[in-house]
Amino acid sequence: MDRTSAEKRIVELREILWENSRRYYVENAPTMSDYDYDHLMYELEALEQEFPDLITPDSPTQKVGSDLADTEENRKAAEHEKDARSGQPTEREMSMSEDFEAKNIFRQYAHQYPMLSLGNTYSIEEVEAFADRATKTLDRPFTFNCELKFDGTGISLTYRKGKLFRALTRGDGTKGDDVTKNVKHIQNIPQSLKGSGYPEEFEIRGEIVMPYDSFDQLNRERLINEDTPFANPRNAASGSLKLIDPKEVGKRGLYCILYHIPGDIMQFGTHSHAMECAKEWGLPISDKSKVCRNIDEIEEYINFWDTERKKLPYATDGIVIKINEIAAQMDLGYTSKSPRWAVAYKFKAEQALTEVLSIDYQVGRTGSVTPVANLAPVLLSGTTVKRATLNNSDFMASLDIRIGDYVYVEKGGEIIPKITSVELKKRPEHSQRPEFPTLCPDCGTPLVKAEDEARFYCPYSEGCPTQIKGRLLHFMSRKAMNILAGEATVDQLYDLGMVRSIADFYDLKMPDLLRLDGWKEKSAINFLNSLEKSKQVTFDHVLFALGIRNVGEITARTMARHFKNIDAILAASIEELTEVEDIGGIIAESIYSYFKQEKHIDEIARLREAGLQFAMAEDEGPRSEILKGTTIVISGNFSISRESMKKLIEANGGKNSSSLSKKTAFLLAGTKAGPEKLKKAETLQIPVKTEEEFFQMTGLEKEIAEQQTLFTPPSVSTGEEGPEEEPNLFNM
Ligand code: IVH
Repeated sequence: MDRTSAEKRIVELREILWENSRRYYVENAPTMSDYDYDHLMYELEALEQEFPDLITPDSPTQKVGSDLADTEENRKAAEHEKDARSGQPTEREMSMSEDFEAKNIFRQYAHQYPMLSLGNTYSIEEVEAFADRATKTLDRPFTFNCELKFDGTGISLTYRKGKLFRALTRGDGTKGDDVTKNVKHIQNIPQSLKGSGYPEEFEIRGEIVMPYDSFDQLNRERLINEDTPFANPRNAASGSLKLIDPKEVGKRGLYCILYHIPGDIMQFGTHSHAMECAKEWGLPISDKSKVCRNIDEIEEYINFWDTERKKLPYATDGIVIKINEIAAQMDLGYTSKSPRWAVAYKFKAEQALTEVLSIDYQVGRTGSVTPVANLAPVLLSGTTVKRATLNNSDFMASLDIRIGDYVYVEKGGEIIPKITSVELKKRPEHSQRPEFPTLCPDCGTPLVKAEDEARFYCPYSEGCPTQIKGRLLHFMSRKAMNILAGEATVDQLYDLGMVRSIADFYDLKMPDLLRLDGWKEKSAINFLNSLEKSKQVTFDHVLFALGIRNVGEITARTMARHFKNIDAILAASIEELTEVEDIGGIIAESIYSYFKQEKHIDEIARLREAGLQFAMAEDEGPRSEILKGTTIVISGNFSISRESMKKLIEANGGKNSSSLSKKTAFLLAGTKAGPEKLKKAETLQIPVKTEEEFFQMTGLEKEIAEQQTLFTPPSVSTGEEGPEEEPNLFNM
């Protein structure tokens, strides 16, 4: 390539790479696959190597990407960094800290050692070349340490006198966001070290990951609340680590794995020994690393983990090969961006290429409009993909997706396949950018969009049929009121004008139901019985059934337990709501505004009149304290329903949790327990108990449990809790 064309291409590549780096690190919503990004970076590197005078210090080949938001407060604070470092907070320093808290901004601090990235490759030959280069430069025996490349978000922890002092994100590599408060809610990060022999002060770095089961659960909740689901566990981990409310962070099931102590660590001799010591001090270190002596052993490690990694409970995207001896690492040194003593071999994500047949715009029960691509069916990681969400108009625009385009679809252990890019070479001639609708596709109301939101909404919540039907369906769903009817019944009841709000269900009479297509006396009786039975559904489920934005099953239960009855909730202030365990500011606001609306107050009055439970029953407090302070995760099928098992645990003072963590006392595993859960229990060394062992150990009686939960929705177990009654969009 001649110099002028090279210059032009370099400018172009830098722009694309910076833009995608911003989307990846700042927005947590990448629009390009890692593979494509890396290959554009290789192209830029090659061009810069050919024309070295065109290299500029701000080229993406010279600098690591940044996840920092540039704020005025942080610029000011950087000038006073010295105050912060002296360890003695001055008055100015303290008032500055308050400023950050009040404005919900993370304060930034400089890293003591820069947080670099890693040179990466997708080819074994290049790993060989890396080993050869090291052999030539070092000219003495040395070993390699092979480890997994965890696909999360980088973290640097500083321990001072054995106590967790500060946690910084990678930021721009030289300074990071102070997320210490948030990190304290990540259960496997110790706040104090064990044993002795640790340096007075040191940094240790690693990755915060979100295990697949927590990721799936989070995205399920986001779908229920009509929030855009995270594209992958990495983005979810990164977004969660930067939540403003530390309590919320604690609920995200994040998990930390540490893999690097920067600075002068000659005393350890080797990296693997440094990690062993860190493990002794109680720090979370991976047990999957291996010291390898030569390229054959490295290859063996790579091949083994290429398949084995799919069984891990968290995402990995490659293998990191490090020279193990610290003295050798020091001899090899660093480039401006990465160490010369390490390289990452990356696995290619499974991808499929398929055609976009059409785009639907779906309206959810809260009115948000989600574009969905209908795809020519394609097989990916064992499932046929026919549809993929396009999230919102911004995402569609950044992909520049058009009908007739061929798109790459990826699935990396996540439940929702995602479109990563468009194959422009296959774009049909004269294709047009699809216009995002300006009117609600269901009721024709002009759509609205709040300035700080990416989604369009149909504001006509009272009249838009899809929103109303969505709310009715949610009310009837199994985890809510468990009323025996499906979408077709709701459609008919709505279309005939018999049910327009949830309270209307309880006014239905036999003659109304006999008007429904194909309904005979028997089906009508069954339906009326089911409505009657729903009047015994406990208060926590009723609260969930109301469909309050951001109030999932667990939040509804916590609220019901805390406030005991609806009147207390109706009277609660935002402050009182935030005092409840696990309820953060956003959830509190949405509960508060729901109960302030006249139409909701009227509806609750009608439901109360109909006889629904709006208070916790007296005997719903613990019946024994046998499981007090015990957090249990259940998985699989039992001889009693899962719902009964959960109730039994709670009735005896225990706590149910859906994801395993250090706080979990044991995993109660029935038949067909989830393999991911079992594997994770093993990784976290959490005991696994069978149903028999559980009843023996506690002396509880399952027959009583079954009877006492007679009126709660029976659960049809699928082994793992999966998405049910959620938007049909995701049955792909
Ligand atoms: S070592 C001086 N080891 O991958 C370099 N990094 O793509 C220290 N990563 O920035 C990094 N797993 O955030 C190292 N086992 C591992 C890793 C790992 C994941 C991340 C890390 C790094 C990025 C580069």
